[in-house]
Amino acid sequence: PPLEAIINLNDFEEAFTKFGTKKANAYISGASNDLLTLNANKSYWQKLWFRPRVMRNVSAINTEMNMLGCKVKMPAYICPMGIAKVAGPEGETALAAGAATAGIIHCTSVTASYGLDEILASAPNNPFFYQLYVDKQRHKSEEILRKLETHKQIKALFITVDLAVVSKREADERIRTQEAGLSVYLAGQQNKVDKKGGGLARTTGSFIDWALSWDDLAWVRKHTKLPIVVKGIQSAVDAKLAMQMGCQGIVVSNHGGRALDNAPATILTLLEMRRDCPEVFDKLEVFIDGGVRRGSDILKAVCLGARGVGVGRPFQCSVMYNKEGVEQCAEILQDELETAMRLCGVTDLENARGDLSYLNTSEIE
Ligand code: FNR
Repeated sequence: PPLEAIINLNDFEEAFTKFGTKKANAYISGASNDLLTLNANKSYWQKLWFRPRVMRNVSAINTEMNMLGCKVKMPAYICPMGIAKVAGPEGETALAAGAATAGIIHCTSVTASYGLDEILASAPNNPFFYQLYVDKQRHKSEEILRKLETHKQIKALFITVDLAVVSKREADERIRTQEAGLSVYLAGQQNKVDKKGGGLARTTGSFIDWALSWDDLAWVRKHTKLPIVVKGIQSAVDAKLAMQMGCQGIVVSNHGGRALDNAPATILTLLEMRRDCPEVFDKLEVFIDGGVRRGSDILKAVCLGARGVGVGRPFQCSVMYNKEGVEQCAEILQDELETAMRLCGVTDLENARGDLSYLNTSEIE
């Protein structure tokens, strides 16, 4: 479909199922085992209801937010996602350039299909976040951290911790072909077909260090001055640990349902944190991703205390329309967010952060 026909984020994912190859679709839209967490992420956002306030003069509103020292136009960033070239030739350069136009941030993945210099150069005036999987060969990660120090555009380091081993992605395993362009060289691994199948995620993810532990945050700290954000927190206990271990932020995430299946919908974890460790929201910058598909979801997350949300698959799919697609994806979110704020009687997002009076959570509590 032409870009004009795309009016919400689900449209991007649907368009990609028609346009993308089977393997690219399996890799992007796929998740673990029975897809229970994938589906729950989405459906739980829909069980949060607003308590709208009316007659509040919503002619002027402010959607800006401060995230990890960066002022952004709205509190949504593009999640780190591997090999964006599978969605379109511009890959991460489209994500970076589109984010810049929209005034938001792209968190670029260590498993990107473009080199870091090229990605940063495609949005030379925009800040970035950088996501790292710690390598079994620690010296490789240390080298990357050293290199990051020289790139002034990078403002925070996300360490992904929810994928100690690559999970069972059945759609990805079932397609055993090695399509041209998909088996890109990644972290020393080539996409292979073996007895378990043809899983692109699995065969390229074996470098991830499953021995990683909380004590290693001190090692990360020793090698970077950047704010450290632990991505993949799935319980209030771990949120509290992250705070005690001195990182600057967390992402409540289950990897978009691509890690442990039956891990809780991320919004459930956020609610558990409000109940069991509300202090974390004051001490750390709390982000959430997984199933965010509407601007109104951004408003919900902020009212629950989050500083921002990550949006994954819709942006990855929008790359099929190049930079213009990414821009449109962000524009739709911005427009939906503004509409939801006006209809809810919220004029300033920063003021609404943590204000539960706008939400009715009874359906899931
Ligand atoms: C991911 N995700 C991911 N996360 C990460 O920390 N490093 C990575 O390299 C990747 N790669 C990746 C590839 C693809 C194709 C997808 C869809 C996802 C997870 C991602 O950052 C995020 O947590 C989820 O995508 C959020 O869920 P939604 O918005 O896709 O539902």
